[in-house]
Amino acid sequence: MKKCLILYESYHHGNTEKIARAMAEQANAKVCTIDKVHTVRVEEYEIIGFGAGIAYARPYDKMLKAAAQLNLQGKAVFVFSTSGMGKAKYNSALVELLKNAGASLVGTFACKGYDTFGPIKMIGGIAKGHPDEKDIAAAKRFIQQMVVS
Ligand SMILES: Cc1cc2nc3c(=O)[nH]c(=O)nc-3n(C[C@H](O)[C@H](O)[C@H](O)COP(=O)(O)O)c2cc1C
Repeated sequence: MKKCLILYESYHHGNTEKIARAMAEQANAKVCTIDKVHTVRVEEYEIIGFGAGIAYARPYDKMLKAAAQLNLQGKAVFVFSTSGMGKAKYNSALVELLKNAGASLVGTFACKGYDTFGPIKMIGGIAKGHPDEKDIAAAKRFIQQMVVS
């Protein structure tokens, strides 16, 4: 199994944190919020996952800004997100940024996450109950493929 680090940013409902922790458990990975990335030695890991909630159809700004600061030349990376809609294409901005930093993208994952942002709060939010058991199981299957040697 490859030595894996998972960096994440999750502030709305802790949805992405749930996915990050499930992945970490499955892959025996180190998990860390992106604002604490300075406390880990990124270069020691063979594969790094970057996960965030989505705001305005892009991964959280904090993640985009911090990821851009890292030396990822030649590093295997994957991207994951949770969002009200659960669209994988929301990962694009982070995927492009990592590729431009010289990293090698090995996969992306997306699922729904409970969303009460803006007016949808009035209707009780969307994607209630997500990530659910199926989302967690899918996230575990995904990371399993990422870390097998
Ligand atoms: C400011 C803001 C903007 C959002 N914009 C979108 C969006 O464009 N598309 C979407 O599907 N969900 C959107 N969401 C919902 C979140 O992406 C979703 O709830 C996500 O699971 C939150 O992750 P977290 O709990 O890990 O922070 C937005 C949420 C917030 C707070």
